[in-house]
Amino acid sequence: MKVAVVGATGLVGSEILTVLAERNFPVTALIPVASERSKGKEIEFKGNKYKVVTPAEAIALHPDVALFSAGGETSTEYAPQFAEAGITVVDNSSAWRMDPTKKLVVPEVNGEVLSAADKIIANPNCSTIQMVVVLQPLHAKYKIKRVVVSTYQSVTGTGVKAVNQLMDERAGKDGEKAYPYQIDLNVIPHIDVFQDNGYTKEEMKMIKETNKIMGDDSIRVTATTVRIPVMGGHSEAVNIEFENDFDLAEVRQLLGEQEGVIVIDDPANLQYPMPKDAHGKDEVLVGRIRRDESQDKTLNLWVVADNLRKGAATNAVQIAELLLKKGLI
Ligand SMILES: NC(=O)c1ccc[n+]([C@@H]2O[C@H](COP(=O)([O-])OP(=O)(O)OC[C@H]3O[C@@H](n4cnc5c(N)ncnc54)[C@H](OP(=O)(O)O)[C@@H]3O)[C@@H](O)[C@H]2O)c1
Repeated sequence: MKVAVVGATGLVGSEILTVLAERNFPVTALIPVASERSKGKEIEFKGNKYKVVTPAEAIALHPDVALFSAGGETSTEYAPQFAEAGITVVDNSSAWRMDPTKKLVVPEVNGEVLSAADKIIANPNCSTIQMVVVLQPLHAKYKIKRVVVSTYQSVTGTGVKAVNQLMDERAGKDGEKAYPYQIDLNVIPHIDVFQDNGYTKEEMKMIKETNKIMGDDSIRVTATTVRIPVMGGHSEAVNIEFENDFDLAEVRQLLGEQEGVIVIDDPANLQYPMPKDAHGKDEVLVGRIRRDESQDKTLNLWVVADNLRKGAATNAVQIAELLLKKGLI
């Protein structure tokens, strides 16, 4: 496979390169792509050095698949041009996620929707991916009525600039700001832009994308998304109301059997998932599994994952693996 990584110099792009190498994706030629600013810069992959090219140059090199993580504008402009040239695009931005003609895929949840007609495939929002992987087996068994989620999101979700802001603040240095406020020693209840309904775009992504991926608009979702000064991954407190009652032991068993999920739930021994444990891992970690005692048929969970891995790079590479397995690339 000739593989283009668009945004190869960014946080998600670098993680895509790591994941491609770790999972031994059959890369015969790598095409690292970034903006004019990075043109000619060298990127190392599996011991070899490759020169960064621009998106237009990459199309001319005709890769089999292109993994995009270069922001919405780049995806809106270039993904159709790649697709037009017969190159299958897996896109990490939010540009195509809610387009009814594009599939929004988490392989463990709805991988079966992929077909030969899909030339631009959308990778969901990081917070949504880690939540639906956990919701899926529970919905299949007990039918979800409503989900209330509050997130505790890592600065790595905003990109290189945000990581630099946190590090500068810790070092007492001035520098470029990714957030409107100090993030170190603070919590910012604001991710992406505010909408007319008072929610942020990130919150609306979690709501709409969950319905689309799970193929069920009857699931009601409400979200509060919050940025915290953490590096390892995103955490979520998830409250789920079901149609049918559940057994806690069975819930643990179902989650334990779910592909891509690890249950860490032993409060007596202080075992629960934390972002520092999720960092660098492909799996979604779940713990603090308990009944919501204020309401029938309702469950509380704590869900943690590395937003740059399963929340972005790993999921995109898994989509490419699935396309390959199905003979679609
Ligand atoms: N971080 C996450 O957890 C996460 C999760 C899911 C999805 N995403 C999405 O992934 C994308 C990238 O996020 P990130 O955190 O990796 O950001 P980042 O660290 O700021 O990296 C951005 C990348 O995009 C490239 N780029 C910017 N403008 C470009 C252009 N006009 N043409 C070609 N390349 C261009 C940059 O190249 P230069 O180095 O040349 O500027 C860089 O490689 C965003 O769409 C984001 O929404 C991020």
